[in-house]
Amino acid sequence: MCGIVGFTGKRAALPLLLSGLSALEYRGYDSAGVALAAERLVTVKSAGRLSCLQQKLKGGVWGQTCGIGHTRWATHGAPVDHNAHPHATPRLAMVHNGIIENYAELTAALCEQGCVFRSETDTESAAWLLDGIYGENHDPVQAIFKTIKQLRGSFAFGVIFADRPGEIYAVRRDSPLIVAQAEEGSFLASDVPALLAHTKAYYRPDEGVVCRLSAQGVCFFDDEGKEVAQRLETVDWSVEQARKDGFEHFMIKEIYEEPQALQRTVQHYLKKGLPRFQNPMLDGDALASFKRVILVACGTAMHAGLVGAYRIEKMARVPARVEIASEFRYADPVLGTGDLMILLSQSGETADTLAALRHAKAQGVPTLAIVNVVGSSVAREADHVLYTPAGPEIAVASTKAYSVQCAVLELIAIRMAMAKGRMDAHRARGLCVQLADHVPAEVLATLELSDRIRTLAVALTDAQHLFYIGRDLDCALCTEGSLKLKEISYIHSEAYAAGELKHGAISLIERDTPVVALMTVPHVAEKMISAIREVRSRGARVILFITRDLAERYEIPFDDCVQLPVSSTGQTVFGAATALQLLAYHVAAARGLDVDKPRNLAKSVTVE
Ligand code: M6R
Repeated sequence: MCGIVGFTGKRAALPLLLSGLSALEYRGYDSAGVALAAERLVTVKSAGRLSCLQQKLKGGVWGQTCGIGHTRWATHGAPVDHNAHPHATPRLAMVHNGIIENYAELTAALCEQGCVFRSETDTESAAWLLDGIYGENHDPVQAIFKTIKQLRGSFAFGVIFADRPGEIYAVRRDSPLIVAQAEEGSFLASDVPALLAHTKAYYRPDEGVVCRLSAQGVCFFDDEGKEVAQRLETVDWSVEQARKDGFEHFMIKEIYEEPQALQRTVQHYLKKGLPRFQNPMLDGDALASFKRVILVACGTAMHAGLVGAYRIEKMARVPARVEIASEFRYADPVLGTGDLMILLSQSGETADTLAALRHAKAQGVPTLAIVNVVGSSVAREADHVLYTPAGPEIAVASTKAYSVQCAVLELIAIRMAMAKGRMDAHRARGLCVQLADHVPAEVLATLELSDRIRTLAVALTDAQHLFYIGRDLDCALCTEGSLKLKEISYIHSEAYAAGELKHGAISLIERDTPVVALMTVPHVAEKMISAIREVRSRGARVILFITRDLAERYEIPFDDCVQLPVSSTGQTVFGAATALQLLAYHVAAARGLDVDKPRNLAKSVTVE
């Protein structure tokens, strides 16, 4: 949700800012801009993708060695030139990721003092506020602290001052920000991909610490103006991992990475064939003391939670429920002794998930985060963290992160079942072997169906709306299949428990309405067949995704069928998820859409 970058050093800043913004464009892409500092501040911005800004900058001479840049996901004000960042005042230029909640009152007061606003953004109020305070004594660190004390909401700011060329200042609250020192100079960014080409070591400054970047390096200050140390972190992602590598889109590349990501994740958490998390709560007896598991997340991560809840209940017989993070804390949930809260997040920066985590912690509930980005806010604040070593996920549509989240939840369910005395080591080992070896192989085999699925997808490109139906675990999977399709193809779709259709939504089925029917769960197979018959007899065109063994066992009516190269177990979910992701991908690609950057979306939703 908005990408910010900054560079100051020995080289021209502009190319570095643009390549950083290009690596962060997944965070927002409705407008972009840069501000460069030399004798004076120059700001250039443009509505549209980064390419529009590049076009605007063409032909200029841009030798400045210090600058900041921004790629926007609009919250306040339409995506037009004047709302793009950076926002400039006489004394400074500012980029911002987050939301200033009290911007309206600040704007009114600042306008009264004579500030002339040029945008409808919340950010400009912070820029003018800082401008005025900085004008009092020209001390940037003090001025930033004084300013942020007056701000409500979330922010990561990058600021350059007209009278301090060569220096960039930055600070964050509830929004991600990293800084790094490399050969070429010092960098500022919202996320690691922007830095990978220059360094793998970076600082993730603590909240409320002001950073000063110069060609000489990076310093951090606390609110008394004292220099403080911050922890240097390193990332093991490579530049290649953050590139498309010959694939047309990041999304399809990331789907193809699933077998390896799954294998890596499962192996990481296995010891002698059994789940081992190197965590006293999860490895010890404490796990047996939990009476309820609450899984909290947003979007795709929340859908992984649905799968996890099924598996925890099924194997460990511990009640598990899933909560949408944005609703959680406002619902005043009943929490208590015996609860374990699991938070799922690819980015670890999702504002709603972070707020839910804080709410649970304040109530004294133990929290466990399953996160892909090392050192992210959710990971840092949770009591316990399990990382999913899936590598960077760049496409806005989450794919491999979902698969590995499901895998970690499967391991937790097995471990919990053992701790509760519901599963012996022999059975647990069998499931772990299956997860470590068979599942990645099944996902690999599913990828070979890509061409077949593409053919089916082409026939769906003109669909107005469609249904995903399934029962039991398939029902959870359908929610994700449906979300994937709608977010990238813009075709309306609904996920329905197959048995629930006839209680209302079946009235929407008419001749040729496409219905994706998922059938991987043996004990509800016959019920699914009835649901398929019901929709077909009302004219639906049924596209059946079915496991090999169920296809052999039953006579099932369908219009198109994909036989999944997997056998029906609770772990079928992985191959089936891959198949549904491929379907969504091919529909969107066949519609000629920008698959990696769907309209109105951003990868990491860092505002509530
Ligand atoms: O980074 P997170 O996993 O916390 O993100 C949560 C959702 O915003 C995310 O899964 C979103 O639903 C994806 N775009 C779906 O593909």
